[in-house]
Amino acid sequence: MKAVILAGGSGTRLYPVTVAINKHFLPIYNKPMIYYPLSLIMLLGIRDILLIINPEDLVIFQKLFKDGSHLGINIKYKIQERPNGLAEGLILAEDFIGNDNICYMLGDNIFFGHDLVKIMNEARYEIEKSGGAYVFGYYVKDPERFGVVEFDDKGNVISLEEKPKKPKSNYAVVGMYFYDNEAVQIAKNVKPSERGELEITSVNEEYLRRGRLKVKLLGRGFAWFDAGTHDSFLEAGEFVATIEKKTGLMIGCIEEIAYRNGWIDKEKLLELAKPLAKTEYGKYLIELAK
Ligand code: DAU
Repeated sequence: MKAVILAGGSGTRLYPVTVAINKHFLPIYNKPMIYYPLSLIMLLGIRDILLIINPEDLVIFQKLFKDGSHLGINIKYKIQERPNGLAEGLILAEDFIGNDNICYMLGDNIFFGHDLVKIMNEARYEIEKSGGAYVFGYYVKDPERFGVVEFDDKGNVISLEEKPKKPKSNYAVVGMYFYDNEAVQIAKNVKPSERGELEITSVNEEYLRRGRLKVKLLGRGFAWFDAGTHDSFLEAGEFVATIEKKTGLMIGCIEEIAYRNGWIDKEKLLELAKPLAKTEYGKYLIELAK
């Protein structure tokens, strides 16, 4: 399976902060936002990763991640000329995806919780084995901000809607999707929504129509943030700070994950820590190597 992370978009909900800088570089507490989705992909053991980015951000992303080889991963970049919607990323990623299945993740989504990796990997292997699409629902008090999934009384999915004015449930579809290879062709047939975007919800609706959509609910034990508004951005940062200070363990530390996965050795970890040695982040990596 290959991973695609969407890290473009205009970030208008975070204006004026994001007028001149892409939101994925903004700090969620002590690291750039993009570290968090990338770290989850790495925790899943996926090493081939495409970042969908805005044209003006290529140089900065390359400065941040290069080609990923220092982390034992393979990062490629694909320019999205305009923020035409989430489903366009699937079309842009066609060559990269080839004949593979896809782990598709939004660059402003942050997840935390016990057994998260296990649950996501179950979804991954389900798609590898049986195809279709696999998405996750999370109970929220403001579902109108998200894609919303509706269930019947037996728990079967009956509808999906993007940012409905009158949501039919409180379950938001979170920004982590697993698809079989069909997703690319499905995305190509998606028509722009009223707001002029190729919606990922339309892709998911097509899988639902074909009877090929699985939805798993993430329970209360999980924390999920879509850090695309000022409040959720702040909440995500506070959450990460609280957990890290309490446990002394980092969330979203990509060098640590590469090391624990056995993708880099101790010497490499120390080399990566060296320029950061004056920071808590660098000290954490040095401690880890010990
Ligand atoms: O966070 C979950 C929600 O994400 C889902 O519940 C919705 O169904 C889904 O449409 C999406 O809604 P948002 O309005 O929050 O999406 P946003 O415009 O914030 O974009 C999500 C990420 O994708 C963000 O990191 C920016 C990036 N992006 C966005 C667009 C529109 C791109 O890379 N290209 C784009 O064209």
